[in-house]
Amino acid sequence: MISFRTQFCRGVTLLLLLLVEVANSANAPLRMPHAMVVAQEGIAAQVGAEVMKAGGNAIDGAIATAFALAVTHPAAGNIGGGGFLLYRPAQGEPVLYDFRETAPQASRPDMWLVDGKYDAQRHHNSHLAVGVPGTVAGLYQAWREHGKLPWSRLLAPAIRLASQGFIVSDELSSSLRSGLQRMQNYPAAVAQFSNHGKPYEQGARLVQKDLAVTLELIARQGSDGFYKGRIAQLLVEEIQRGGGVLTLQDLANYRPLARTPLRGTYRGYDVLTVPPPSSAVALIEMLNVCEGYDLRDMGFGTTATLHLMTETMRRAYADRAHYLGDPAFNPSMPIQRLLSKDYAEYLRTTINLKAASVSEVGQFEWPPESPQTTHLSIVDEARNAVALTYTLEAAYGSGIVAPGTGFLLNNEMGDFNAQAGLTNEQGLIGTTPNLAAGGKRMLSSMSPTILSKQGQLFMVTGSPGGRTIINTVLQTILNVVDHNMNAQAAVDAGRLHHQWLPDTVVTEAAAFSKDSLTALSTMGHRLSTRESIGAAQVIVVNQRDGMLEGGADKRDPDSTVSGY
Ligand code: GLY
Repeated sequence: MISFRTQFCRGVTLLLLLLVEVANSANAPLRMPHAMVVAQEGIAAQVGAEVMKAGGNAIDGAIATAFALAVTHPAAGNIGGGGFLLYRPAQGEPVLYDFRETAPQASRPDMWLVDGKYDAQRHHNSHLAVGVPGTVAGLYQAWREHGKLPWSRLLAPAIRLASQGFIVSDELSSSLRSGLQRMQNYPAAVAQFSNHGKPYEQGARLVQKDLAVTLELIARQGSDGFYKGRIAQLLVEEIQRGGGVLTLQDLANYRPLARTPLRGTYRGYDVLTVPPPSSAVALIEMLNVCEGYDLRDMGFGTTATLHLMTETMRRAYADRAHYLGDPAFNPSMPIQRLLSKDYAEYLRTTINLKAASVSEVGQFEWPPESPQTTHLSIVDEARNAVALTYTLEAAYGSGIVAPGTGFLLNNEMGDFNAQAGLTNEQGLIGTTPNLAAGGKRMLSSMSPTILSKQGQLFMVTGSPGGRTIINTVLQTILNVVDHNMNAQAAVDAGRLHHQWLPDTVVTEAAAFSKDSLTALSTMGHRLSTRESIGAAQVIVVNQRDGMLEGGADKRDPDSTVSGY
């Protein structure tokens, strides 16, 4: 079993560590013959690898990793949030499990207004911001339909980690330090995630007894252990105490959905990703546009490539804002047109290769979307693959822990648009698909994605990063397919982001040459920098020898490749 970050934390196998660090220093991917997990935290990645070594398949590994992340990566790993699990079996049909949160039945488009004025606190940081959690139901359905090992076996490592505790890393220590501010109004959260009110230091042991009890209940009763009975009761009591509208009925009615994945192609690769309520439609749209240019010849990071990517992103994000939302509430979204090669051809005719275009001016404001989500990529021995992205929305979600439950609740309602008039003062109709309504799923950027070629698995990718997710996933694919990078190099390479509005190209600091950026600015682009964008976790199957090659994103130092 190889797991460099976890082994490091546990002080095991110096030689192994050296080998891995050497491999890593030259952007070389970690290579494994049998099975691999790449995730944002090492103990959880190792849990997934151990489950597959014990006879589990990729679904089992993903579920075990996800429950473990709910313990070891509490900023985003969760049982109180939601997400998407894309499963591509080596044989048979792929499936997308949509366990996005839903709006409580009492939700209304104007629920964020106080005396007629929009209240951002209410929208993002209140009991009203909590959507009906989907994670437990989604993982349970995936297990019932495709799991191999007993359900309780998949939860056992997470229960152990919660009840016996684990050692806090440097990264987790600083994350908890800032997370505590979010939790300050919620004593059960502060008690769970601090040492009597003081932030946990690196090296401390974090024990979560209440979470262990909740996980044991889920292990025994399946998703009923979460959506009915004691946990549901405690959760609703806390929500109603805080003025929220989520009810026992909302919890009992929650259903994950098994959807047909969105399909596209890119230079001979088949691409599977997430249909609405994710906005990964934009990913296929961008790949289709890029396909009309010789990116390999244009080169990585050149002005020409950065300009083309920016113009492509600008157009796809405009479409995202105009058209996308929960399909159950928006039956006439033009998805087939947005996905078509013809539409990409049309978009290419609107791109001037010599000058920046301008996003429509207006008062449009995207609602804030947090970069705190987490992604894991998994492949098993049979080459079944899972790409799973899930989230609490903000880091540590709403910051609310219902006393006695031991888990954080999401603030995913913040992903609904604030109010039609506010988000779109120019009267564009496009933002209405994502206004809050009872039972509706809020629009997401989460884009777990799997590529194959001639029926054979090729690449598993995904990232956290809020609205930047789609662009990060795009860039991992372009880096591998066009720029011929291996998995680690593709993850390490510098990133840029444009989302239509604001009309600004955001690049990672020092990601691209000064010359390229100066020329980009001369073409009319407004530039800004950010320290980092996303935290992609990627697996590529080497086409020559069939080995699994992992790229863990060191923008988050706890990201880990584990496997055997
Ligand atoms: N809350 C982040 C997303 O759904 O994309």
